Amino acid sequence: MIEQFGRFNASDKRLINCNQVDVNQLMPLRYGWAWEHYLNGCANHWMPNEVAMTGDIAIWRSTNLSADERLMVLRNLGFFATAESLVGNNIVLAIFRHITNAECRQYLLRQAFEEAIHTHAFLHIVESLGLNEHEIFNMYHEIPVISQKDQFEMQLTAAVLDPQFSTENLAGMQTFVKNLIGYYVIMEGIFFYSGFVMLLSLHRRNVLTGIGEQIQYILRDETIHLNFGVDLINGIKAENPAIWTNEFQAEIVQLIRQAVELEAQYAAECLPRGVMGLHAAMFRDYVQYIADRRLQRIGLAIQYGSQNPFPWMSETIDLTKEKNFFETRVTEYQSAASLEWD
Ligand SMILES: [Fe+2]
Ligand SMILES: [Fe+2]
Repeated sequence: MIEQFGRFNASDKRLINCNQVDVNQLMPLRYGWAWEHYLNGCANHWMPNEVAMTGDIAIWRSTNLSADERLMVLRNLGFFATAESLVGNNIVLAIFRHITNAECRQYLLRQAFEEAIHTHAFLHIVESLGLNEHEIFNMYHEIPVISQKDQFEMQLTAAVLDPQFSTENLAGMQTFVKNLIGYYVIMEGIFFYSGFVMLLSLHRRNVLTGIGEQIQYILRDETIHLNFGVDLINGIKAENPAIWTNEFQAEIVQLIRQAVELEAQYAAECLPRGVMGLHAAMFRDYVQYIADRRLQRIGLAIQYGSQNPFPWMSETIDLTKEKNFFETRVTEYQSAASLEWD
């Protein structure tokens, strides 16, 4: 098989359906963005067990949290605890083999490990606080608003896992791009964000700051996952413009609208009465606001025109991009990687 490949130019590379270039040859690079995202992911390396949970344990055992605050925390832990696995499994089992480009695969390998770290973070939280692991890790079966979000994603994975599936025809490429939008834009770009707001709201009040710190690390990673996904989706569109029909665009808009409804219902279930000035109606606006931003990034028209009720979230995301924000840990990893031997 390998003899059929001669030496190639970077311009011969393709994101999917690449027949000219052996997928094991990283250089010469064509997609510099994929390599940049890979380097940024590596520079952000962290491990959940480095985050001290003693303050959180004291607060969780105290009477300082209301029943509604506890419900909000538990619902979000239950959602994330299994959602991270769904993303990792979609990468490894469904999309990896169809991405026929070495630099994107390099990124996907890094991202898959980050998803494992994120799952580890929720195990670390559940263990530290002594939560009921059966309750948390079964919410995706037992709490309808969580299982609906997960079912929405799992059917997109199943479509690519179908033995009949191929990216070598128009319908197959559309199914594949729909999976990428379902995970990178919807799961990591919309479904994670109500939970980020709720858990980071506590952190802003200095409550459960260990969970908050882990969520900040996860948010920083997910920002890169979303950026990679947007570049990948737009790259596949540019190489295969025939897939981006009006019908397909309308189908994607409907998919995102459906996701916004699921996410608004999820937020309402986490906040049945509202806590600390957070109310379900604010989350409908917020989810619509971020959905508009995501739609624009993949070349679709905004649908809602809602205002952002949580402007501090943009500041939090910007703050996590600053290199010196996590300076201590980043420095430790970078120095470990450049050991001196003499
Ligand atoms: Fe993740
Ligand atoms: Fe992710």
